[in-house]
Amino acid sequence: MNQEHQAVPTGGQPQIGEYRDDLHAETLEDIQIGEYGYKFRTLEGLMLPPYVTPSRYQVSRTIATRPDDVCYCSFPKSGSTWLANILYLILNDDLAAEDRTLRSCLHWMESSWTYPRSREEVEALPSPRIFKSHMPYRMALAGGPESSPCKYIYIARNPKDVCVSYFHFESGKAWSGKYHGTWEHWLRIFLEGQVQRGNWFDHVLSWWEHRQAENLLFLRYEDLKRDFEGQLGLIAQYLGRELSDEVVARIKNATSFARMKATPFSNHTQISDFEGFFRKGEIGSWKDQFTVAQSEEFDRHFQERMEGKSLRFAFE
Ligand code: A3P
Repeated sequence: MNQEHQAVPTGGQPQIGEYRDDLHAETLEDIQIGEYGYKFRTLEGLMLPPYVTPSRYQVSRTIATRPDDVCYCSFPKSGSTWLANILYLILNDDLAAEDRTLRSCLHWMESSWTYPRSREEVEALPSPRIFKSHMPYRMALAGGPESSPCKYIYIARNPKDVCVSYFHFESGKAWSGKYHGTWEHWLRIFLEGQVQRGNWFDHVLSWWEHRQAENLLFLRYEDLKRDFEGQLGLIAQYLGRELSDEVVARIKNATSFARMKATPFSNHTQISDFEGFFRKGEIGSWKDQFTVAQSEEFDRHFQERMEGKSLRFAFE
């Protein structure tokens, strides 16, 4: 831990050390290393970070859920932490716990590293519980909306911004084998689906196809950015909560990018590897990274994969 990290307020929570194979991978034989050191393991044909272990995955698939549980899901870098903070404030009457952090209030069963809580611990917790998952539909927590009473919320974001955000997040990190590929390399493996959590199109469309399920709400990052109150109303209604105008204003203020970045409850400063997590928080920051040719190639790929689907995204 360096001096800089010691100085950052952590909300009274201990620092979380860097991901380590010997502590967090569970088994080493199935860890693979791709180009530029990119580290991953494969479960059920899906590329995953090595801290998603076979046994944690099994717990995530079989944990008993209740009708008042909420599970938010996404492809990484789609605004899921923002959504988590919103959910926490809706379900906890707008009270951010002073002695806790957002991370300590969430349950990420598929991860052995930053959120390691056992099945027994989580099953003993009172309702409502908030679960996090980055799995595609076929690998969803507790079997997914068809077999679990839990309320699922999927959040998707335009894939150009996801791709850029993910590049910055994965580069140089212990859980990715200190991946050191170029942006060009990353863009290629992202489009090929050769990144942790697999193909963005498969992931998002797998949930989109089930959007009519009663216990699934499908959201988009760009809608939250553009119409926060409207989307907050939808989420609250889905969870069976009524929010006064005053509470809506407080949640909006507490979950702004600037506030989440500055507040120990939400800013992830206990996890030194997450430095820079609150990077830009904008729609369209992909323009700073893509060349015109790359953008055109991406658009062609997007058209092909989304042909005939009714899902649209705002890219700026
Ligand atoms: P950028 O890297 O584009 O800035 P996730 O939580 O799913 O990993 O998503 C992370 C992305 O959401 C990052 O995008 C991060 O900055 C952005 N984000 C986090 N909190 C946000 C907020 N309150 N408002 C808008 N964007 C936010």
